Amino acid sequence: MIEMSHVSFRYGRGDWVFRGLSLAVEKHRCTFLVGRNGSGKTTLGKLMAGILKPVSGTVLVDGLDTRQAELYQIGARVGYLFQEPERQLFAPTVWEELTFVLDLFGIEKKLQEERAEMLLKQFHLQKVKNSFTYQLSRGEKQRLALAAVMINNPAFLILDEPTTGLDPRRREALAEILEECKAQGIGMVVISHDRKFTERLADRIITLSDGGITDGH
Ligand SMILES: Nc1ncnc2c1ncn2[C@@H]1O[C@H](COP(=O)(O)OP(=O)(O)OP(=O)(O)O)[C@@H](O)[C@H]1O
Ligand SMILES: [Mg+2]
Repeated sequence: MIEMSHVSFRYGRGDWVFRGLSLAVEKHRCTFLVGRNGSGKTTLGKLMAGILKPVSGTVLVDGLDTRQAELYQIGARVGYLFQEPERQLFAPTVWEELTFVLDLFGIEKKLQEERAEMLLKQFHLQKVKNSFTYQLSRGEKQRLALAAVMINNPAFLILDEPTTGLDPRRREALAEILEECKAQGIGMVVISHDRKFTERLADRIITLSDGGITDGH
């Protein structure tokens, strides 16, 4: 599903973050990326989502080369959750955050509402349906950002530290949501420092260090 071959990447003229990295992650599996701060987890996630392009080598998403494809083509397949959820909330209210994308795609009003209601329920956001997004708690923002990522039914999810700032109860709720996604056959790459969370969900754990990877199945 996502296939990286001989990928090298650095920011501008900085040090190489990856040199000649090859890695494939499959559909229907939950792959965790772990490693120290600065080991390149976020960079790898962004390369997989086509947000960053390799300096050399290729990243294929469902056979599409991220250097040639348009971002929306990748975006239709891969949902990406940023490390900071605020970065991807655009609409004034929770309800609008969930419906504006559907509106953009010209989805009929009634279907928009059904889909948005379903996500509100799944992500325990019904209470804040009409709230302004800037007033939400950290955990609510996190869940809303993820709900918004899910709105297009992506076949694959890349989640960067989704448990940051969540209390144990919310972490549990998120784990349940991700288990549901897994059961629906959605493939996932999850970046996490949270061991318990990782052990609960991972089919495969990849450790990043010094620009290389160690693979544990
Ligand atoms: N926008 C950027 N410009 C220049 N260098 C960057 C940029 N973003 C990250 N880096 C560098 O790339 C390397 C990998 O960073 P990255 O953010 O991918 O690590 P990470 O494993 O996600 O870290 P963390 O656990 O702190 O989130 C680091 O050395 C970092 O300083
Ligand atoms: Mg990071």
